[in-house]
Amino acid sequence: MKIAVIGTGYVGLVTGVCLAEIGNKVSCIDIDERKIKKLKKGISPIFEEGLEDLIKKNLTLPRRGSATKANYDPELVEGECAAKAESKRLSFSNNLEKEIPNSHIIFIAVGTPEKEDGSADLSQVENAAVSIGQALAKLPKEKQDYKIIVNKSTVPIGTGDLVSKLVKKYYDGLFDVVSNPEFLREGSAIFDFMHPDRIVIGGESEKAKTILKKVFQPLAAPVLLTDLKTAEMIKYASNSFLATSISFINSVANLCEKVGADVTQVAAGMRLDKRIGKRAFLDAGPGWGGSCFPKDVKALVQIADENYTQFEILQAALEQNERQKKWILGKLFTLLPELKDKKIALWGVAFKAGTDDVREAPALKIIEELLAAGAEVLVFDPQAAENTKKIFPQVAFANSALQAADGADALIILTEWSQFKKINLPKLKLLLKTPLVVDGRNLFNVQQMYKLGFQYISVGRQWLEPKVTIVIPLNQVNQYLYESLPHIFNIDLKNYEVLILPDQIGRQEKGLLTKAKKNNVEDKMKVIATGKIGPAQKRDFALNYATGSILAFLDDDAYPASDWLKVALRHFQNPAVAAVGGPAVTPAKSGFWEKVSGAVYESLFGGGTARFRYLPTGTIREVDDFPSVNFLIKKESLQKVGGFASQFWPGEDTKLCQQIVYTLGQKIIYDPQAVVYHHRRKTLADHLKQVLSYSVHRGYFAKKFPKTSLRPAYFAPSLFVLWLLTTAGLLISRGLGRTPLIVFGSGGEILGAQNQSLWTISPLSIALAILLIYAIGLLVSVVQIAFKNRNIILGVMTAPAIFLTHVFYGIGFVVGLSTKNLKSKMRYQKKPAEA
Ligand SMILES: NC(=O)c1ccc[n+]([C@@H]2O[C@H](COP(=O)([O-])OP(=O)(O)OC[C@H]3O[C@@H](n4cnc5c(N)ncnc54)[C@H](O)[C@@H]3O)[C@@H](O)[C@H]2O)c1
Repeated sequence: MKIAVIGTGYVGLVTGVCLAEIGNKVSCIDIDERKIKKLKKGISPIFEEGLEDLIKKNLTLPRRGSATKANYDPELVEGECAAKAESKRLSFSNNLEKEIPNSHIIFIAVGTPEKEDGSADLSQVENAAVSIGQALAKLPKEKQDYKIIVNKSTVPIGTGDLVSKLVKKYYDGLFDVVSNPEFLREGSAIFDFMHPDRIVIGGESEKAKTILKKVFQPLAAPVLLTDLKTAEMIKYASNSFLATSISFINSVANLCEKVGADVTQVAAGMRLDKRIGKRAFLDAGPGWGGSCFPKDVKALVQIADENYTQFEILQAALEQNERQKKWILGKLFTLLPELKDKKIALWGVAFKAGTDDVREAPALKIIEELLAAGAEVLVFDPQAAENTKKIFPQVAFANSALQAADGADALIILTEWSQFKKINLPKLKLLLKTPLVVDGRNLFNVQQMYKLGFQYISVGRQWLEPKVTIVIPLNQVNQYLYESLPHIFNIDLKNYEVLILPDQIGRQEKGLLTKAKKNNVEDKMKVIATGKIGPAQKRDFALNYATGSILAFLDDDAYPASDWLKVALRHFQNPAVAAVGGPAVTPAKSGFWEKVSGAVYESLFGGGTARFRYLPTGTIREVDDFPSVNFLIKKESLQKVGGFASQFWPGEDTKLCQQIVYTLGQKIIYDPQAVVYHHRRKTLADHLKQVLSYSVHRGYFAKKFPKTSLRPAYFAPSLFVLWLLTTAGLLISRGLGRTPLIVFGSGGEILGAQNQSLWTISPLSIALAILLIYAIGLLVSVVQIAFKNRNIILGVMTAPAIFLTHVFYGIGFVVGLSTKNLKSKMRYQKKPAEA
């Protein structure tokens, strides 16, 4: 059979070469001269496993070669002379006019890209049809034999008739138009063509369908004969169904992440259902792309629209797919919020493995957005580099996957190339600057990646949540703890235990244990006597008993929000993170002075640079000093730094944090959403005592741990106190009430000019002006607090509380600064009792 194939793209070339391979004489035609030049030399312009070998083979083999008898039946086509031994099976040409008249079957396999409105652009098909008609018209009447025009391109329903009309316009000889949609997959195109699940032949002419069926006979595949329109619809319906099933499983994957399921196992379970099938398209990933699915789904929606039918499922699939493409970057942004100047390695641009095709690949959008965010992108794709360079000439390409990963802040995997699956993971870990891998193809085992120390994000699979031990140090079981425990057992995480560490097991503790038994939580809660030691020592003590790999410290007078651990734990996916802290928010049900105390810490003026620690708002940030009331730390990191600096309390966490950040080189993350509620001191006097205690330590630490405690903001209250004293001194020395605030013409230091007639300002007036500014600051805080709490009295009382807080802190800080050895003054100096 003499066959012409118009279009040497992914479909046309594979079709032509495979038809030659099964014994036909095939001429592949393309308007692209560069392609034809290459092909004539036996070079494939596209990458498809085994394609180039087949081209070379069939370029040299004579037509009969290994052809089976079945694929050639001279009686079927009149005028077909028996094979000429010298003619080659496969040829390539730009000359459509010459090749078409000599062929009995003409395949149209040109592109049908999408138009702006989503409908199929048929211009290439129309041009091909016109060219066929014009070329055939040139045949002398006596040579005009029967032709079959086969539409292999994916086209809207009714296009077969259009092709027929266009050919007829020029050619009045005998011909039929048949639809023979192609179902091959890029990446396994040769195999798919040679071993199709089915061959669909649609047309109105039985003769044409029979001849074509014979052509495909060597493939021994089921053949479905239909009318023209049905065949055209089968292709659109198949592609749309497959795309929808990917969108479906991607939605399932997103849900799996939320509920703690594993999408790969879900898909495996679904595939066991024979109605779904073991080859069902259920691989969750970064969204579908490629030259077919996006345009075919949109075209079918458009066809439905033109026929006044809503295809809502396909609309939803398209929308889901757009969201899915953003999934990768969304994950990356949460873990690497600042991408500017970050080096991102990207493995795989091709829309799927086995091809160099990057059309509509999710990677394109991702590269674009990474570049827009200022990231430096280093790409590796074993086959698609050339095609990617055409779109992103500015992007750098590596020669290997590991070279791309070298020194990268994160690695994104977008194509499931088999060589990526075989990568040496320990080596990869060593090469990456941060072992953060966002895997859009679920290539690796989650547990293995976790064990190797990767921060590994994959699609719809759970990051292996580590077990958490909640540690509550206290003197003895008290009412606060009873308030806290229901909240703790309401935490939306399964893998945790609670370690309560009283001084001894007395009546209260025994009561608690009985209650735990009654409420069936005894296996989740341990109560262990530590002897009379300080809270910091109790926290270290917990290291001996905790079975979790993360320790979460909570004060007994604090209780957590239900998502406390879930929120905090996500940061531990990053192996560089050693600890996570969150705000200690004042509970809504607090006494008046507790609320005042909380308001002081929260207020802009009272809390200063540390106010974020009391507010569940603001941004996730790195910190280098954080209190342990709401603090999670990797057990391993706590062990590495030798536990808390338990000679200090409070402030035992300052040294620990400094060591984590500056000795271990690990991160402490503050997440405002990892909330615990912390009771404040019940009276103003207790509040001030607490402030004094904090400030003495901070002053002492300013000398001892200057890296994190010698900060200007900590000195501000002391300077304020100094200022107050100076003002008071000035007032006393000048005589209260007799010194004018603003002196006209004489007295005080003259600011600015010699001219005696100018206004001059005395130091006292400056001092009082600053006090006025301070008073304005207080007023702003009063309004802020009153407004926030809708409580004027609370707002008003916050003003003196802030003032006193500043005074006490200012004094305490100086005391701490001048203290030689704070240790000896601290409580709880005893060593931990024997466990
Ligand atoms: N790529 C796939 O995996 C796949 C699978 C099944 C079906 N299809 C469908 O097959 C058709 C072809 O797809 P493709 O990916 O091979 O397209 P492609 O864009 O890779 O190739 C089309 C080729 O046709 C050539 N061409 C265009 N007009 C021509 C003309 N008038 N004369 C000669 N050559 C001409 C182009 O130069 C190009 O080389 C499309 O309708 C597509 O939807 C594609």
